[in-house]
Amino acid sequence: MAKRIQLSRTGGSEVLELVDVAPADPGPGEVRVANRAVGLNFIDIYFRTGLYPAPALPTGLGTEAAGVVDAVGEGVTHLREGDRVAYAQGPLGAYAELHTLPADKVVVLPEGVDFETAAASMLKGLTVQYLMRQTHRLEAGETILWHAAAGGVGSIACQWARALGVKLIGTVSSPEKAALAEQNGAWATIDYTRENVVERVRELTDGAMCDVVYDSVGKDTWETSLDCLKPRSLMVSFGNASGAVEGVNLGILNQKGSLYTTRPSLNGYADTRERLEMMAAELFEMLKSGKVKVDIAQRYPLAEAGKAQDALQGRQTTGSTILIP
Ligand SMILES: NC(=O)c1ccc[n+]([C@@H]2O[C@H](COP(=O)([O-])OP(=O)(O)OC[C@H]3O[C@@H](n4cnc5c(N)ncnc54)[C@H](OP(=O)(O)O)[C@@H]3O)[C@@H](O)[C@H]2O)c1
Repeated sequence: MAKRIQLSRTGGSEVLELVDVAPADPGPGEVRVANRAVGLNFIDIYFRTGLYPAPALPTGLGTEAAGVVDAVGEGVTHLREGDRVAYAQGPLGAYAELHTLPADKVVVLPEGVDFETAAASMLKGLTVQYLMRQTHRLEAGETILWHAAAGGVGSIACQWARALGVKLIGTVSSPEKAALAEQNGAWATIDYTRENVVERVRELTDGAMCDVVYDSVGKDTWETSLDCLKPRSLMVSFGNASGAVEGVNLGILNQKGSLYTTRPSLNGYADTRERLEMMAAELFEMLKSGKVKVDIAQRYPLAEAGKAQDALQGRQTTGSTILIP
């Protein structure tokens, strides 16, 4: 038997239960991974609350972890028992001691990237890779607005932007979070609890505004974000921390300056093994070179996944959070 976090109904963190399950043997094309560290992500909260429906209930939770391959299914050629690996996609159930998933979603960890770093950065770092290098290929000198700049994805984004020579303006909710984002390479920060975001962006850019806005807050910031853009530039809406953006009248893109918008996801970019390998290689390079250092600011035992999610949802965390099985 192995322990995993499971939910039988959607709701608050009280629906998360630690249960014993018989670990599934890997089928053809699958591997089973003995997780050494598990990543905590906002998307796990969307599945727990039902904002994103799980395929079935009861269900496991979580998609990001790192560990050792413990069993290999038929037809898998790129992985062997004992390999050090990480993953950020696949069926829900990474909050567990053992997780079985398609081998295609699993990459081998290079030397120099440890389990905790990998679990804290696979999903968040691959997200920054596609957002900054694919959704829009950022160039040195461009100015961007990044919401939640002291969070898990945000902390990696600040460092990646600095490495690219991009001026990242980060929004945060406290002076402590502002200091952290700036230490990570944010060119400037805006404390949205005390400052008007659009006005501050106007001042900081001498009226030019931003080349791209990356918005993971959603409902609360959608219109503000559009107002921070240059004419004909790009709004990237990639999350819903405050709730989903709904009922958008496309005419607003015309009114705010002939803007472009997209609503991308990691699964939409890492949709083939080749693309996943390419994105992971770039992330591992950033980690190994030290240009991106992953800040694991919170660690919880697996059994305390609910407590960890409450902290993330309650804006009490910074950087990445991991669960230890
Ligand atoms: N589309 C994709 O491919 C993809 C992939 C990964 C993550 N994401 C999204 O990226 C975002 C960041 O994920 P993360 O796991 O790294 O979380 P995080 O940024 O560490 O935590 C969320 C942060 O959002 C800010 N926030 C603003 N309004 C909030 C609200 N109403 N409730 C809660 N938080 C609020 C808070 O920072 P302040 O206190 O500074 O405001 C909070 O710390 C999430 O929206 C997630 O869904 C999307």
